[in-house]
Amino acid sequence: MAYQNAALHVEGVSLDALAAQHQTPLFVYSKAAMLSALASYQRGFAGRDALICYAMKANSSLAVLQLFAQNGCGFDIVSGGELARVLKAGADPQKVIFSGVGKTRAEMRQALEAGIACFNVESIAELDVLNEVALSMNRIASISLRVNPNVDPKTHPYISTGLKGNKFGIAHEEALGAYRHAASLKGLRVAGIDCHIGSQITEVTPYVDAMDRVLDLVSSVEAAGIPIHHIDFGGGLGINYNGDTPPEADALWAQLLAKIDARGFRGKQLMIEPGRSLVGNAGVCVTEVLFTKQGSDKNFCIVDAAMNDLPRPAMYQGFHAIVPCSAPSKPQLTRPAQEVIYDVVGPVCESGDWLGKDRALDVRAGELLAVLSTGAYCMAMASNYNTRGRAAEVLVDGDTATLIRVRETADDQMRMERML
Ligand code: LLP
Repeated sequence: MAYQNAALHVEGVSLDALAAQHQTPLFVYSKAAMLSALASYQRGFAGRDALICYAMKANSSLAVLQLFAQNGCGFDIVSGGELARVLKAGADPQKVIFSGVGKTRAEMRQALEAGIACFNVESIAELDVLNEVALSMNRIASISLRVNPNVDPKTHPYISTGLKGNKFGIAHEEALGAYRHAASLKGLRVAGIDCHIGSQITEVTPYVDAMDRVLDLVSSVEAAGIPIHHIDFGGGLGINYNGDTPPEADALWAQLLAKIDARGFRGKQLMIEPGRSLVGNAGVCVTEVLFTKQGSDKNFCIVDAAMNDLPRPAMYQGFHAIVPCSAPSKPQLTRPAQEVIYDVVGPVCESGDWLGKDRALDVRAGELLAVLSTGAYCMAMASNYNTRGRAAEVLVDGDTATLIRVRETADDQMRMERML
């Protein structure tokens, strides 16, 4: 993403042009950025038996899934809906793994019928139910147990998952017993071990600590006579939102693979479940300034995107950079520079509806802004609050822009409803 002739471009296409054609708010994704993020993982695993399962919850738009499927990815799903979506996008079911703490029997059946690779099971109770469902279908479900290594990923509490107090996984101390139980159930086949400690992790240490604890368990489970075929190390690698400096995927994995080798587990298949790091920085949201307003304490820049399109600030106080779609130098040619400190807010009727606080911007009504790093957990978490239609999405490949989701209308939103 860069300014060319004073206009912000994604690859070879200007955001002004896309907004004129498709209106705003508009999500714009770069195919090259997604593939380059994937390539970093692929480089990291070169020569290894490894499967990259894109955690599709980060961005589950069909064309995005298609792109990853066409480039060799497997998928990490967390619902029957995600399974239906990913199969529609052309994924190989044998490269699909199913995570999540609350799978329903219907979802288990759907996944067994599709022939997915593995269930990441999070409790003894889930083991028993999956066993029952598999036996009733005359199938055997491959499972790995998601263990909770109790390490602090040093991220926002809502997206920390590997600490003792979290609802996720099976406690480290109980894992061996759970494996023994799983191995005794006729409808299950123990395939692997799984962990995921949190999201937007920007340090290496929590990963290394979690890997140590997982490998300790592999040793003790195998010593108990239960072979572990694969190690699934989850996702969680952070991206740069606001000067964050997470390691590159290939550099992180060079360290983790060295540890795996040093501890004698080189022969194991590896799986990972990255979401944000594959798509987060490949997307921007273009929004139009509707009004600027001087409040008694603050100035507000009111835009046409809102918390229903971009929920991360409201939910996690997430930071997204906000920049003008026209280079700052351009307006200065036609009018004097006028940078003002604004809270950038949406039209939704809540004070929580803000996209950025205290941002210095030189903007006027009718101008366009780009909210950056919005490829992950934005459209996938978008809602219809205030009966706002969900935004359109465009995927850019070089000079070509493809509309991959049309803007939702009020009729679309009311289609599933019935009057009294
Ligand atoms: N695997 C499991 C089991 C997960 O729960 C998640 C994310 C991932 C993989 C992918 O993690 P990632 O590589 O994307 O960090 N909505 C929040 C993030 C929620 C993450 C949920 N689990 C946000 O916008 O920050």
